[in-house]
Amino acid sequence: MGKERKRVLSGIQATGNLHIGNYIGALRQFIGLQDGYDCHFFVADLHAITVPQDPKEYASRIRNAVNIHLACGLDPDKITLFRQSDVPAHAELAWLLNTIATMGELKRMTQFKDKAGGKAEASLGVGLFDYPVLMAADILLYQADLVPVGEDQKQHIELTRDLAERFNRRFGKTFRVPKPMIPKLGARVMGLDDPSAKMSKSAETEGSRIELTDPEDVVRRKVSRAVTDSGSDITSGKDKPAVSNLLTIMSTLSGDGVPTLEKRFSGKGYKEFKEALADVIVTTLRPIQRTLEELEGNPSYVDEVLEKGAAKARPEAEKTLAAAKSAMGL
Ligand code: TYM
Repeated sequence: MGKERKRVLSGIQATGNLHIGNYIGALRQFIGLQDGYDCHFFVADLHAITVPQDPKEYASRIRNAVNIHLACGLDPDKITLFRQSDVPAHAELAWLLNTIATMGELKRMTQFKDKAGGKAEASLGVGLFDYPVLMAADILLYQADLVPVGEDQKQHIELTRDLAERFNRRFGKTFRVPKPMIPKLGARVMGLDDPSAKMSKSAETEGSRIELTDPEDVVRRKVSRAVTDSGSDITSGKDKPAVSNLLTIMSTLSGDGVPTLEKRFSGKGYKEFKEALADVIVTTLRPIQRTLEELEGNPSYVDEVLEKGAAKARPEAEKTLAAAKSAMGL
């Protein structure tokens, strides 16, 4: 018998259109892991409602996020793909973990501070504050060993580890303590219009991100307008945040190392470099968009995938939840 495969788990929120930051930091990692690990991936639809969602559009946004997972190349026969709200144990374990998490540690979460955006504390949603505890529940329910994410989620995984260790200490060993898995290159893709801000779904300016569903002309326009640095060298370095970001995107999508790209574009202008970058992005997105279209025309297939995923995830989650409740005397 071979060694048991390690359990990998990760989630992506169902907010807005996913962008190449999500692809490079998360989805691309997922695809590389599906053959060697026991993978669970889900669409975090309970997390996304911590900011207002239009109920009329929300179901199709959730569906779009699921379709993108499949279109990027995740194979539902190899992995477990599900919708968070299809497994009620997530919310229930979050409640149990709430009783051991502290206000202080949640207040330290930088993503909460960013999302709060300087608004008065009294007006902020409790769900937004509690977001990382639900995320801890997501991870601990499946006894995950590894959590592939971009850099921005590292602090949430550290909190998850702290909560798991605290629970195990107080109530007896119940949860596996997971580790983050963060890519060496592309863990924090920056905005095309501002290399000091992370590429995000919520940035006001659309020129900051390339969405996975952007048509070719939009990709080319956004890349051609991407900011660059002073000087004309196409090299990576601390003093060149904009060009470094573009090189990172090109390197992760093309598979060519940054030094190779620096050599290839040595002495060449930004125009040529940006055209080549747009080509690489378009080539990456084309097959994804084609599959996405097919999936949109085949909703019953996606329903089946989600039903199968939920049927697999539910008993696994319930097993851990039952152990946690019993450990607490419930
Ligand atoms: P979300 O939906 O914001 O992002 C999904 C994944 O994409 C990564 N990511 C990026 N990577 C590189 N550069 C960027 N600019 C960039 N923007 C986003 C994120 O790090 C993430 O891996 N809280 C999570 C969702 C979640 C989750 C979980 C993740 C809920 N439960 C349990 C792991 C395990 C989130 O907001 O991701």
